Amino acid sequence: MCGIVGYIGNREAFPILMKGLHRLEYRGYDSAGVALINSNGELGVYKAKGKVSDLETFVSDKDVTGNIGIAHTRWATHGEPCQENAHPHYSSNGRLAIIHNGIIENYMEIKKHLIECGFIFRSDTDTEVLVQLIQYVQDTENVSLVSAVQLALKQVIGAYAIAVLDKEQPEQIIAARKSSPLVIGIGDDEYFLASDAMPIVEYTKRVIYVEDDTIAVIRKGDALRILDLNNVEHNPEVKHVELSIGQLEKGGFPHFMLKEIFEQPQCIANCMKGRISQDLGEVKLSSVIDYKERLLGAHRFIILACGTSWHAGLIGKYLLESMCHVPVEVEYASEFRYRDPVITPNDVVIAISQSGETADTLAALKLAKKKGAFIYGICNAVGSSIPRETDTGSYIHVGPEIGVASTKAFTGQVTVLTLLALALAKEKGTISNVAYQKIIRELDAIPEKMQEVLKQNDAIADLSKIFTYAHNLIYLGRGYCYPVALEGALKLKEISYIHAEGYPAAEMKHGPIALIDAEMPVVVIATHNTLYEKIVSNIQEVKARKGKIIALVTKGDTVVSKLADHVIELPSTLECLDPLITTIPLQLLGYHVAVHKGKDVDQPRNLAKSVTVE
Ligand code: M6R
Repeated sequence: MCGIVGYIGNREAFPILMKGLHRLEYRGYDSAGVALINSNGELGVYKAKGKVSDLETFVSDKDVTGNIGIAHTRWATHGEPCQENAHPHYSSNGRLAIIHNGIIENYMEIKKHLIECGFIFRSDTDTEVLVQLIQYVQDTENVSLVSAVQLALKQVIGAYAIAVLDKEQPEQIIAARKSSPLVIGIGDDEYFLASDAMPIVEYTKRVIYVEDDTIAVIRKGDALRILDLNNVEHNPEVKHVELSIGQLEKGGFPHFMLKEIFEQPQCIANCMKGRISQDLGEVKLSSVIDYKERLLGAHRFIILACGTSWHAGLIGKYLLESMCHVPVEVEYASEFRYRDPVITPNDVVIAISQSGETADTLAALKLAKKKGAFIYGICNAVGSSIPRETDTGSYIHVGPEIGVASTKAFTGQVTVLTLLALALAKEKGTISNVAYQKIIRELDAIPEKMQEVLKQNDAIADLSKIFTYAHNLIYLGRGYCYPVALEGALKLKEISYIHAEGYPAAEMKHGPIALIDAEMPVVVIATHNTLYEKIVSNIQEVKARKGKIIALVTKGDTVVSKLADHVIELPSTLECLDPLITTIPLQLLGYHVAVHKGKDVDQPRNLAKSVTVE
């Protein structure tokens, strides 16, 4: 979703802003823009539909000098993607420029009033309303920009991260946040501003995560000031970011997605590091140690998430129920937040999110918290909003995920859920020592087994060619591999734009079987586990209707291998760890189909990496 970058200091702002926008491209966007104040105090605003590179071409003959500026990538919500709707937006008097990530929900009402007062609007956006409102407050109340922003934001309902430039104060950026991410980087006599730390780490590792309902007064040469809307000063906590530049680049891979798929063995090893002791044969999660009573006392777990994280949550349900014998519900955060869910203080909510910024997940967990639940977060982005709202949790430690299609975050989430289930089950006494030890030993072998799967990349790339012209695919799995089927289908559709559905294999005969004919490829996860015989029967049902079977089987399989049209052999593992292995070939399959179709794998159309609006 929208990305924000800002700079104030002694360097030329434009190259820093453009580099920053490129770093935020992964979030998904459809237009870009920049505002700069040059040494003559002139405010220049330039915008273009399309990519950041289109903006760079557009400004090639313009004056983009200046040591202060703000820039933006827009993911359209109010108004189509076009130059007029791209940010920054000007105030009517041409004095202010604003960039915004979020949604101003009561913009219609404010706009109506401003139009009555004579304001003219040039775009269809909710953002332009905000900058005009700030001007209106400045004009009518005769106050400073800081006060005008505070007063304007008090009238606004919705979510925002904003940055405002005032050409009358060319040494200052005002930024503010409510429910949309905003980070300030502190350099030597310079400040950086961004939606996340990625555009900043190249220049400084010292950052401040701006809190909700506060505004930042960023002035060159002065200490940073954080105020709330009532002008009370806050003391910001300066944090150190661990990100390195290498993590933000493709490292020789053609796409971030492929790089991230290949990083999984290392990521999973990192995720388990310090949490599993093979010598002692035990799992130690600090969150479980610190909040043992609260977690062991849970009468129920409710997992809240969206998209791929929701699929990981489904696997979490299987893990927690079978190991800990506690009921688990898995909810789409977007549905949960608008119901009146029954929550008791004995409930533990697990919020799962790669970005830690997903608006629905954040709102759902806040609702659960208000109703008394204890909140456990499983996130990737360190310092993001969700971990800051939770009572405790575990980071997945897989490093920045830049490809829009989530890959390593999924296996990281499943790994943390496995560790959580094991740690709780051990404390509760609901798992035998033999089973506990067996899973711990097998977890140690997972990175190497993932590596083995990745060796089949070329073969999977070849196999994927046959799907390039398919219009529909079905993915089937059972038990722990049913969510993997959902995830495989999601990977394919989001980057190759081919329609795909995931189903529990046995559910197929209750409807989807009507779709099967000789044109329909059916991907079946048929590894050796307790449901193997059942899935063989499901494969027979597809075969009988001439569907084309692509089966994921365990190495040495003879039965399914004979029935299937194409086979991908995988190393054997324990049933509860199957998703960590079976997901990888499906990620590769989705990736290669999209590449064959010539799609923009890392930035698929309409999608955003960090879904900060509902
Ligand atoms: O950052 P989150 O994990 O909260 O994001 C949730 C979904 O938006 C995300 O998983 C989405 O479905 C991905 N594009 C899947 O690849």
